[in-house]
Amino acid sequence: MWTPFAAPTLSDSDWARLRSNVAGLVRAGLGPKLIRLAFKDATGTPHGQSLLGEENAADFDLVTGLKSGLVGSISNADTLSFAGAVAVGAAIQSANLAVPWRPGRADVVSASDVKYSPATEHTDAQWNAQDLRVWFNRLGFTNDRDAVVLMGAHNLGNCHVQVSGYAGPWTTTPLSLTNEFFVRLALAHSNPAYYSNVSVIYNDSKKWQWADTRGRMMLPVDLSLINDASYMYYVNQYATDQTTFITDFVDAYSRLLEYNVSSGLGGYVDTSLTPSLLSTQDTTLQSVLNSTTMCYPLVGNPIICAILKPDGSGNTIFTIHSLKTGWAAFGLGESMMDGDVIIGYPNQNKTSTAFITTYSHGININYNPVWQQIDLLCMWTTSAQILDGRGSPSLESLSLPYPHIHLQMS
Ligand code: HEM
Repeated sequence: MWTPFAAPTLSDSDWARLRSNVAGLVRAGLGPKLIRLAFKDATGTPHGQSLLGEENAADFDLVTGLKSGLVGSISNADTLSFAGAVAVGAAIQSANLAVPWRPGRADVVSASDVKYSPATEHTDAQWNAQDLRVWFNRLGFTNDRDAVVLMGAHNLGNCHVQVSGYAGPWTTTPLSLTNEFFVRLALAHSNPAYYSNVSVIYNDSKKWQWADTRGRMMLPVDLSLINDASYMYYVNQYATDQTTFITDFVDAYSRLLEYNVSSGLGGYVDTSLTPSLLSTQDTTLQSVLNSTTMCYPLVGNPIICAILKPDGSGNTIFTIHSLKTGWAAFGLGESMMDGDVIIGYPNQNKTSTAFITTYSHGININYNPVWQQIDLLCMWTTSAQILDGRGSPSLESLSLPYPHIHLQMS
């Protein structure tokens, strides 16, 4: 008979291998995805059930990849949960603060093994503050402080049209956990015109979200926080105190990953990554980047493509085209700080010595089904910023292994 608990049989070197495998995905820019999948698996669909049904086959591949090289065994649910915890630590980039995490989750073998159905625990980005509170209460998070701090995960990552129908990053630090999400919410509270309502159209579905003039987004459920006095109290607190935000987040996320299973878990396991694991260059990324046309999404109908053409003089002409209506976030390098495309000039140590930042990366509403070229307003800056191979091999964060790059603008 199925039981909800199964202890992994991993040795210390297996755990180290698993941490290293997670680091590989974090370096590829997939940390936020892991953080989200771990949360979804722990709540809406506990015990690996999301991997059985709701999510797609690529997530199975992701978990299989995470387990590669392990001698002992571990459930998919534990693997994903552990990856989320490790990825949060990596996003904080502080050696002193790792997410407390315990193993022991079993994978379900059939839908009937699942206590909470996806329908019951399903989340909706169009929710208002009260919907959000009801859902968090059901998960046992009855304190508004916990709800607000957990929504602060939306400092990280992006919405992907092909995943959710929404598009774009929330902040300029999608791979580092800062309090910018709350700073922006506080800004929207004091200046209601800061975000405009925009529609994102993808594969004939149309979704409403909020966006600022630089392509940073907010889901309706995110902005609902500022319409609720109790939620707003904590938004303001975290907007002015990043240290408390991060400490509270680590604590709440750790409890979230134990939702409904805390009684049967084992002893704590180290989730911290050494800095060297995070800075290793990714060879797979480099090989993907050698192609001359890259489209996003990588499979299916592209909505945006970058075309790289060598000009014969050692330079590469870089143009961006899009077929679709709406807009998309587009960035290079880790942070997209103050700009939307950052192109580094890696030297032989893979350290960039200068970069271009661009503004106005938004794709204009395009009612005609023809490719449009996207205008990019460019500005040269110099910086010691390191483009160290982070960034997934998609157009969402693409670093270019060329010594000289021209941006062709229209
Ligand atoms: C009602 C609650 C929530 C709703 C409606 C919601 C909705 C969404 C949506 C629509 C996306 C975009 C997915 C995509 O297109 O790839 C997203 C991304 C994300 N969510 Fe949430 N979310 C909620 C709560 C949370 C919580 C509690 C956490 C973690 C503690 C979280 C972590 C994330 C992360 C890290 C991403 C970025 C994923 C990536 O970059 O691939 N979310 N969320």
